[in-house]
Amino acid sequence: MDSIKVRGGTELDGRIAIAGAKNACLALMPATLLSDAPLTLTNAPRLSDIRTMTTLLQSLGAEVTQLQGGRVLALSSHDIASQRADYDIVRKMRASILVLGPLLARWGRAEVSLPGGCAIGARPVDLHQHAMECLGAELELRDGYLHARAPSGLRGAVIEFPLVSVGATENALMAAVLARGETEIRNAAREPEIVDLAHCLRAMGAQIEGEGTATIRVQGVSTLHGTTHSVVPDRIELGTYMLAPAIAGGTVECVGGRLDLVTRFAEKLSETGISVEETADGVRVSRSNGRVRAVDVVTAPYPGFPTDLQAQMMALMCTAEGVSVLEERIFENRFMHAPELMRMGARIEVHGGTARVTGVERLRGAPVMATDLRASVSLVLAGLAAEGETMVSRVYHLDRGYERIEEKLRACGADIERVRSE
Ligand code: UD1
Repeated sequence: MDSIKVRGGTELDGRIAIAGAKNACLALMPATLLSDAPLTLTNAPRLSDIRTMTTLLQSLGAEVTQLQGGRVLALSSHDIASQRADYDIVRKMRASILVLGPLLARWGRAEVSLPGGCAIGARPVDLHQHAMECLGAELELRDGYLHARAPSGLRGAVIEFPLVSVGATENALMAAVLARGETEIRNAAREPEIVDLAHCLRAMGAQIEGEGTATIRVQGVSTLHGTTHSVVPDRIELGTYMLAPAIAGGTVECVGGRLDLVTRFAEKLSETGISVEETADGVRVSRSNGRVRAVDVVTAPYPGFPTDLQAQMMALMCTAEGVSVLEERIFENRFMHAPELMRMGARIEVHGGTARVTGVERLRGAPVMATDLRASVSLVLAGLAAEGETMVSRVYHLDRGYERIEEKLRACGADIERVRSE
């Protein structure tokens, strides 16, 4: 297994290109299942999670062709042979559940393996199930698979979510566009990835209103056509690279990044004393001399502070002046980076969903590893400012969500390399 070796202490200076959003692309790709006609996605990120979704769609009989080195995905579902998402693929990536809605909507049946446990908590799929049941499907759990049936098609309904779920909103939306009649999704997630999915579905002929708000209304149509859609920039990749100069010092311009996608996060970063400005090409972040100020963070559904940036923000807080309290409200077990950061000299106490970080002047490099994507990248960020060498192992987590991270950071002057294992 590869590792990433970072030697801290170099200030950053340069530009980093922000890719298309992984999480948007993972929802857009299954939308191909809703139509016979081709769907083309441009600005796709080149990540292992995208390859996993490709394998899943291909296992159903869809055609997925990578063009321009993977930047463009040409998808077609005119020849679907199976409605079964196999355990072997689903267990690798929870977002596989996103084929449930489209399969049910178009074929009236789907069998999707339950994803099983995950490093950051139990992460059930009951809300996905609830949405499909509201639309008239019958679901049954057998042999570890959700067996869903809607022999006479889905019908529009009110779907009220008891808590906000990004994935369940996406599944509900994709199922509703082909359901008979009107659907109202209440307490819908408002993430930019949902808005992006709605834009793409609308370009395919769907009738949707209210995306980006808590109530989405859909008027079902009988067929959808093809389209070409450009994937929204990745706000989590953007936030991660905005934190790089905040932690290491220097200036980085995140090219293609959109500040409006990370408003709450950018406000927090500014509060720490970091300069954040919009440029013609994206977002520029700089840190001049001195330590940053500690700030408190509470994660929340969009437009709140994203849980997917909590670990990276903690890496910054480790060397801030003062005490910072980070409260994780989305996932139950999302502080696995804390003990690893402590191995680098951070002072962190975790009590349930709250972490209290007392800033220290300097972190020291250490061999570390993490069990999920965002935790892994927080260790790379911490390594940028740590004294000496940090070796981050289990890099496959990083490759799920960050395209060529070592090259992007090295281009800004970071002393970072990938160490290939034998
Ligand atoms: C998506 C993102 C993930 C991000 C998360 C929260 C993708 C591919 N992944 O994940 O990076 O961290 O949003 O912003 O887009 N829940 C239930 N029952 C369900 C579904 C969810 O209880 O059926 C709970 C979850 O355990 C969690 C909360 O709802 O506590 C929010 O999860 P959700 O928004 O569904 O996250 P994902 O869509 O899986």
